[in-house]
Amino acid sequence: MPEYAELNINGKKHKLPVVLGTEGEKAIDISKLRQDTGFITLDVGYGNTGSCTSSITFMDGENGILRYRGIPVEQLAEHATFKETAYLLIHGRLPTWEEHRQFSVLLNDHSLVHEDMRSFYQHYPRGSHPMGILSAMLNALKSFYPELENLEEEINITVTRLLAKIRTLAAMSYKISRGHQVVYPRPDLAYCENFLNMMFDSPVRPYKIHPDVVKALRLFWILHADHEQNCSTSAVRIVGSGRVNLYAAISAGIAALWGPLHGGANQAVVEMLENIQNEGSSIQRVIERAKDKNDPYRLMGFGHRVYKTYDPRAKIMKNICDTLLSKLTTQDPFLEIAKKLEAVALKDDYFIEHNLYPNVDFYSGIVLRAIGIPTNMFPVMFAIGRLPGWIAQWLESMNDPNWKLCRPRQIYTGPKITDYVPFEQRYKKP
Ligand code: CMC
Repeated sequence: MPEYAELNINGKKHKLPVVLGTEGEKAIDISKLRQDTGFITLDVGYGNTGSCTSSITFMDGENGILRYRGIPVEQLAEHATFKETAYLLIHGRLPTWEEHRQFSVLLNDHSLVHEDMRSFYQHYPRGSHPMGILSAMLNALKSFYPELENLEEEINITVTRLLAKIRTLAAMSYKISRGHQVVYPRPDLAYCENFLNMMFDSPVRPYKIHPDVVKALRLFWILHADHEQNCSTSAVRIVGSGRVNLYAAISAGIAALWGPLHGGANQAVVEMLENIQNEGSSIQRVIERAKDKNDPYRLMGFGHRVYKTYDPRAKIMKNICDTLLSKLTTQDPFLEIAKKLEAVALKDDYFIEHNLYPNVDFYSGIVLRAIGIPTNMFPVMFAIGRLPGWIAQWLESMNDPNWKLCRPRQIYTGPKITDYVPFEQRYKKP
């Protein structure tokens, strides 16, 4: 591997350092390009731009590989808890028994939220999207929990608070939106069980925690825990680069995740399946619409910026879907529609040529429906899962001595210098 790449601009050669990742990923370091040549690079959507080096998550989009801190996501899905996965991402290694115990104690200790936060929910307009509320609530945490003296202690406590409180805030928003009594976190319950209990327990109908539902939720969260420099994680890093507090950076991540091309895709998939069912559209018609360049319609839950093969998370998600529905002995007509759509799309030349395969969101909405999560809360479930990844990436950037204020450049294409025309000359009096 050469140590430098050579760039020839108007006959003048420039040496650019080559950077190699531990899994053989190759990059050309252009950070001094403008200074040395006057040129910048143009990469709309950042498809070819590495914004940082990172030791958290490895993805190989061509071969469908995803690893957290080197561990294949399939192994974590098989053996780990979500708490362990969060610890792994944030601390860089799996916890010892004692570290796991202490982490659990801290998460329990910080799981309550300030009672005054309830009034926020009560004054939100009815029908507000839970992602907007969650993003605002996470930002508001900064005002409720004052800064500590010691920076390291403050960061550790803030990280724990975020992981512990996000589930309480999400469940609280659901209960209040339904006009129901809020259920408090219980220290005797594990992370996933506690969330399910806060969501679904009620004085008139005590919630019975089903082990297969807990397993499905654990897997859902592990599969969403990190995904390197995706849109919301980049938002967290970019916003964080201005040195805002961690709550504000996470709040920005939640806002970025909300969109239907990113974390809102799980909601969009279920809405798409619902429309297919309600309108009685044929699978072939849906596929034709998704292929039509004059129609903005897309097959939601299909395609990915990095994966050019089957998303490894989608494989596991499809299995969870089948297992959970059979264990609960329920049927979901959406699963049949989704499977038919997938089968037709994977044989279609357009989808084959464009490397479009199901992504994690294609089956995840059906899993969440089976758990009992309302459709508009699906992106919130993604956000709870992604939180450890956002925290790990924020911490990594803050501890990186080379991390700078993120400030991309542009190529200006607007008018050349133009003189201001005074108001009286622009508008005639009527
Ligand atoms: N249905 C139909 N055509 C598609 C789709 C789709 N779902 N996705 C991409 N294409 C086509 C697109 O029309 C374009 O065609 P052409 O080159 O002929 O003009 C080509 O594939 C490349 O598309 P792109 O939009 O330039 O690719 P991208 O890398 O910017 O997009 C994506 C990635 C995820 C935004 C896109 O595939 C998409 O919109 N998918 C549906 C939304 C979705 O499921 N999002 C969840 C992503 S996974 C969760 C996460 O991690 O965020």
